[in-house]
Amino acid sequence: MRAVYSGPQAIKARELGLQRMLMVWIVTGLAFMLLPGTFLGVWNLIAIAGEHTAARIDPAWIQAHGHAQIFGWIGTFVLGIGFYSLTKMMRIPEFAIGRAWTSWVLWTVGVTLRWATNLWLWEWRWLLPASAVLELVGFLLFFATVSGHRPAEGPAVQGAVGRPVWMTAVGAGSIGFLASLIVNLALAIQAAITGSSPAIPHGADQRLLVLFTWAFPVVTIWGFSARWLPVFLGLADPTDPILLAALAVNVTGVGAAMAGWWIPATGAFLTAAGLAVAALRVFQPSVKPPKTAGVHSTFPLFVRFAYGWLLISAAVSVCAALWDRAGGLWGASRHALTVGFMATMVFSIGQRVLPAFCGMRILYSPRLMFWSLALLNLGCFLRVVSEIGAYESYVPSLWPLLPASAVIEMIAVTAFAGNLLFTFRQPPAHLAGAD
Ligand code: HEM
Repeated sequence: MRAVYSGPQAIKARELGLQRMLMVWIVTGLAFMLLPGTFLGVWNLIAIAGEHTAARIDPAWIQAHGHAQIFGWIGTFVLGIGFYSLTKMMRIPEFAIGRAWTSWVLWTVGVTLRWATNLWLWEWRWLLPASAVLELVGFLLFFATVSGHRPAEGPAVQGAVGRPVWMTAVGAGSIGFLASLIVNLALAIQAAITGSSPAIPHGADQRLLVLFTWAFPVVTIWGFSARWLPVFLGLADPTDPILLAALAVNVTGVGAAMAGWWIPATGAFLTAAGLAVAALRVFQPSVKPPKTAGVHSTFPLFVRFAYGWLLISAAVSVCAALWDRAGGLWGASRHALTVGFMATMVFSIGQRVLPAFCGMRILYSPRLMFWSLALLNLGCFLRVVSEIGAYESYVPSLWPLLPASAVIEMIAVTAFAGNLLFTFRQPPAHLAGAD
């Protein structure tokens, strides 16, 4: 059997190695979020607003943006935090850190290649499937490293009978992540053989997007919420059977979407979102004071906003299944989910936990945290309303609001990235002011 770190020096070295590794994953995720993700999204939206339709924009560019956000940003954060926290919690030997670096190289090259191939088309028939293979292998290294290991004794799991439900949700999210990457590879191979561009055909892309959202990040966030919201927001413990019911209904919704049954699928997502909100007690008063030291005091409010966006997104997706004609209802539902729910959760919880995980640092600016969240939610609100009104021609006068919403969201993500990067440049809290 391989050696496990032991002795105070070795434990310290391992902790520093883990922190360095996590910081590199997080900075990589921020880079994908800013450039290939947000800036390309803003560019696309300005072009769409100029044309007054999304139909004339190259779908390969739109998919390059979506892929960079979901995998380049959210996926990179999940892998980095997963390697870091699961290596700490479980009895995982020292080779985990080496594997995390190998996985980072494969993953980063894979996601970059996908983005560049969609934009520049160079050798895309080879590079598109190659990028999907690299992403899948990078993920499998993570999966092989963390699965099958027992939780170590410690406060994180003490008192838990069997496997805590938050771990079940995070495990389900990992399976959704794996399924997304496998189907992504299959569709990339199909596009390379039969397609005329690297863009996945619209019908298949709509289904793939359900895997990229409801099957993976949404479920993973429910899991992390079950673990952290009782601590950070002082909420009562989640109701485990209701959260398990939410997971089960969500899986049914994903299955229905894969079959193209959009009305039952979106109905299931709305039900699952309602169950998750009830299980996590997000809109119930806190039973203990929230832990807001080091972050902005509005942090618990924004977490509740995020869950409000989850419900709005699911409700709009039902309307989309019934009435969408020009992609406005689907697009609004998707951005209520990706920007409103996912990004608000990552901005809130990320700025709460990442400074500590990355070397016991203190968040650079709680005020910048507030502005990043406030602008993100304002931009998302303008986007969702104007996308429905303008794209669907209900209120064409809303077209000019779309570029404004994009610029507001861009300022928000830049503030978030800047706050974390400035945080990482600061010395760890115990060394700050030492000299
Ligand atoms: C920062 C501001 C953002 C802007 C301006 C933006 C813009 C866009 C635009 C114009 C589209 C094309 C479809 C449509 O018209 O709705 C789109 C699609 C998409 N966006 Fe965004 N977006 C932003 C943020 C995000 C974030 C944070 C995520 C994920 C975390 C995300 C994920 C997606 C996905 C998955 C798609 C669908 C791609 C496809 O059709 O395959 N976006 N976005």
